[in-house]
Amino acid sequence: MEKLRLGAFISGGGTNLQSIIDNCKKPEYPARIVVVMSNQEGAYGLKRAEQAGIPTVCVPHKGFKKREEHEREIVERIEPYQVEAVALAGYMRVVTAYLLDAFYNHRKGLPGVINIHPADTRAYQGAHGYEFAMGMLAEHPQRLAETKITVHFVDAGVDTGPIIQQVSVPVLPDDGIDDLRGRGLKVEHRVYPEVIRLYAEGKLKIEGQQVIIL
Ligand code: GRF
Repeated sequence: MEKLRLGAFISGGGTNLQSIIDNCKKPEYPARIVVVMSNQEGAYGLKRAEQAGIPTVCVPHKGFKKREEHEREIVERIEPYQVEAVALAGYMRVVTAYLLDAFYNHRKGLPGVINIHPADTRAYQGAHGYEFAMGMLAEHPQRLAETKITVHFVDAGVDTGPIIQQVSVPVLPDDGIDDLRGRGLKVEHRVYPEVIRLYAEGKLKIEGQQVIIL
């Protein structure tokens, strides 16, 4: 079976990218990363990609007046890599319908952009998901007993797309933010490649907002 041609979009350190790269090294893994795109020139994730021999493309968002214009440039620059699906892995930009349409996977009849969010997307959207669970945000001072790592399809909202998989992570009484983040990232690194596998193997179906794992 042909491996799914995956593009990974990053903005930062790329530990999730690394876990996907590592999984892609397994001969039986059904996807491979064909390009890594960053909007940040100094992103350490670009180094990880280079070390793994994966082509990189950097398209800084500064200078573009509209999100769509930035995305148009991204789509053009990565067109040669024939990306079939995109994994957002710490990509800190809100994406528009333009990008979602460009990567809609017609062959699978599924959205082509997936994201990982370090909180329950039904409870919290946007950056600082671990701080949210710790009760560190002014608008949400309650500390949770657990948070939920969420992998979801991306739609035109911010962290609002259909949920593919969620895994609970406890927030322990003695936790500082780094403890929780460390525990959560371990789960992220396991769950994201698992979901990409399900996607690549054709085991996901969407009915309305509901994702069914076949
Ligand atoms: C992760 O917590 C991910 O859930 C969120 O951004 C962070 C990226 O971390 N979307 P890394 O760059 O993969 O280390």
